[in-house]
Amino acid sequence: MSIRSIRNLDLAGKRVLIRADFNVPLADGAVGDDTRIRASLPTIRYALERGATVVLASHLGRPKGNAQAALSLGPVAGHLSDLLGQPVRFASDCVGEAADTAVAAAHPGGVVLLENLRFHAGEERNEAAFAAALGALADVYVNDAFGAAHRAHASTTGVVAHVADAGAGLLMGAELDHLGSLLGNPARPFAAVLGGAKVSGKLDVIENLLGRVDALLIGGAMAYTFFARRGLPVGKSLVEPDLLEAAAVVERDARRAGVDLRLPSDHVVTARIAAGADTETLDVRDAAIGDRLGVDIGPGTSAAYATVIGGAGTVVWNGPMGVFEIDAFAAGTLAVARAVAETAGTTVVGGGDSVAAVANAGVRDQINHISTGGGASLEFLAGRPLPGVSALPDS
Ligand code: 3PG
Repeated sequence: MSIRSIRNLDLAGKRVLIRADFNVPLADGAVGDDTRIRASLPTIRYALERGATVVLASHLGRPKGNAQAALSLGPVAGHLSDLLGQPVRFASDCVGEAADTAVAAAHPGGVVLLENLRFHAGEERNEAAFAAALGALADVYVNDAFGAAHRAHASTTGVVAHVADAGAGLLMGAELDHLGSLLGNPARPFAAVLGGAKVSGKLDVIENLLGRVDALLIGGAMAYTFFARRGLPVGKSLVEPDLLEAAAVVERDARRAGVDLRLPSDHVVTARIAAGADTETLDVRDAAIGDRLGVDIGPGTSAAYATVIGGAGTVVWNGPMGVFEIDAFAAGTLAVARAVAETAGTTVVGGGDSVAAVANAGVRDQINHISTGGGASLEFLAGRPLPGVSALPDS
């Protein structure tokens, strides 16, 4: 199905409610990482250039229906104003009098940012009255919040019934195109690199990708559930005991599908997760791990994974290879980041940690597509429909 795009909408002179994902880290009242704000600029500029009055809405954090000063979008308004080079009027509430007044005072070419949607419980509950109140602020609705598209909330789904027309923003469209091409007709060989702490968070993604990829490279703590199932020594590494059987099923399905499923052959182990802790690199079969735990893939694994990545026509990467926040445990994750950057294949990176690793390795610009969605990109890769996308009209 092809969804309606902002390019199909008549925006001139209209009030356009753009749902963005401005769920960004704040530090000391200022925006820490503005990647998501920058990613929304093309859609905002597109609407402004066509004579729209832009009304922006987003969530920030998880205030669960209560107003919290620390989760105000106020700092985002200032930051966005600097990026756009024009004033951004901030409404101290996303519905009601404050919102009505701010929108009524804005003119075509002007921008209003509404306060955090999640200060109202009706947002996450997708309450009809709250969705109607949001819809009343605009003539047209544009969903550009790919990062929140896996949430069936009032601002991502319910609001569509309360506006005259609706469509996907440019960021949403680009995310769906890039991620969709992975599930569609990817250039081969197609390699997926999955890491992170838990198998449980990625089991559906693994199963969905097994029918599509040529190689699946696993790293991070999630590898230890596979090792435990194989009877390898795991020490105090993170293992999910209730997923041992699921790990066996993954290995069996990979064999049946002819997928080259790789697990680390060597790893970095330590007695404690702390900067300055002693480390040792061991073969994963080596019982010398004792009661230590694995915190990174070893150099042999990094080199083997880099070879597969380097020969791939398409690579998707989600999840770090170890506890990369600590320098001594970051080498494997950084090696994967560099390999993904250097391959001639098409590359897509998703998930906050992998995106941070790509930035730390200084190779951001060498990745074809960096997804702004963590949970949303995983849901998409698991093959599940995204409510925020399904709610939009067909083109
Ligand atoms: C994200 O950061 O992944 C999105 O903004 C969604 O946030 P949420 O998990 O709080 O719904």
